[in-house]
Amino acid sequence: MGSVVEDIEIDPWSSSQSTDYSRMIEKFGLKRIDVNSLPNPHMLHRRGIVFAHRDLDLILDAKSRSKPFGVLTGLMPSGRMHLGHKMVIDQVKWFQETGGDVTIAVADLEAHATRGLSLADCRKTALEEYIANYAALGLDVEGTEIYFQSTRPIVQRMGFTLGKKSNLSEFEAIYGFDGETNLAHVQAPLVQAGDILHPQLEEYGGLRPIVVPVGVDQDPHLRLTRGLASKTNWFNVNERKSGGLVVALSVQDENSEALGVGSDGRVDKTRRQSVFDKLVSAIKELGFSDLRPNPKHGTIEIPGGVSSDRNRIRQNLLHIERDLGGLGLLVPSSTYHQFALGMTGDKMSSSKPETTIFLGESPDSMAKKVNASFSGGRPTLEEHRRLGGNPEVDVAFQYLRFFFEDDDAHLSEIESGYRSGEILTGDMKRLCIDAASVFLSNLSEMRDQTAHLVEDFLARDSL
Ligand code: TRP
Repeated sequence: MGSVVEDIEIDPWSSSQSTDYSRMIEKFGLKRIDVNSLPNPHMLHRRGIVFAHRDLDLILDAKSRSKPFGVLTGLMPSGRMHLGHKMVIDQVKWFQETGGDVTIAVADLEAHATRGLSLADCRKTALEEYIANYAALGLDVEGTEIYFQSTRPIVQRMGFTLGKKSNLSEFEAIYGFDGETNLAHVQAPLVQAGDILHPQLEEYGGLRPIVVPVGVDQDPHLRLTRGLASKTNWFNVNERKSGGLVVALSVQDENSEALGVGSDGRVDKTRRQSVFDKLVSAIKELGFSDLRPNPKHGTIEIPGGVSSDRNRIRQNLLHIERDLGGLGLLVPSSTYHQFALGMTGDKMSSSKPETTIFLGESPDSMAKKVNASFSGGRPTLEEHRRLGGNPEVDVAFQYLRFFFEDDDAHLSEIESGYRSGEILTGDMKRLCIDAASVFLSNLSEMRDQTAHLVEDFLARDSL
């Protein structure tokens, strides 16, 4: 499964993934992260591991104007939590420290649909394994709410109603679903759209930008969700070919009456005018004076508007949409991290324990895995000294880079020492094992210290 655009494939449910990140950026229209635009960038940003985004500027803009923003992500509670999962939580934590409120979905419905786990097992795994580690990794319980998909009806209801804005052909194109695809599996992306969009509802914090930090395998869900959200929008803000911006009504079944379209298709002038008055004054509030409203055509031209004004205008219009009875959903923002190399040299996967380190792994078992891991060293000592090793494919080095060594200067010393042949494969493994031991034993201690917080992380509907 998975959509194939030329040779690039992204499949959220497969453990085999493309790793040609530049091509992904190009094919799927992602933007590269500019580290200099980030306040206090995390090591995952500094090293280009969190490499791409969609609409992250909405978040950075909210942050710089001290406006609220939220962070939402989700993990399937299947199996044991490993280093790959930790990357997501590291980013959530970074956004939390940057000022975002945090919501995390326990994707139990998805795990049920795609991994065949019972909801009861999911709950147990979520509490004992996932949430216990979220707490230990240092998420602040004050600003974090964790819920189960299965016990938050609104995400299922939103998924269902948003389903009106898509069809099987789109699912086939995005996910490669076909006639054999299980229907619970078809519903999972819709529930995920509900996950991603529901924090904007009034009872979950209200209209504000929401960023979704995920692995790039999840981008299909973001493409879907962004499409669904924008299809619900009553007012589109587009660039005009001739320059400037134009706001256009999007008349749909749900809003035709509110937008002044009678059942006979005729425009109710009074109602249309009152909508336009609201729109015009909301746009003027932002400082645009020269507006050209055309209520009959359902457009307002803003000749002085430029592309970077679109988001501010959009957000103001979403408030009006809400006043008029619409959902008023902002498209979600997202950031994407690259996949960490599996320890055997190919993909990291929880179903193959030898490919990763679990967060609850004992130091002994971790050390065995590192010692057996794929190395970028040369076959003989003499060759290694002469030609140097290749840190790009060296698991021990890459694990220091992705997980264990946050000092950039030290990391780059290790890297050049390896390239020059001064640091040997065994040395590199020892460095990794030492750093990983510290990490695992700290985390284990933190798990003990924060175990009592697990319940406090849960939203009321998920207790
Ligand atoms: N699909 C995600 C996974 O495979 C889990 C998930 C569910 C999620 N809902 C989400 C991720 C919302 C991000 C946002 O692990």
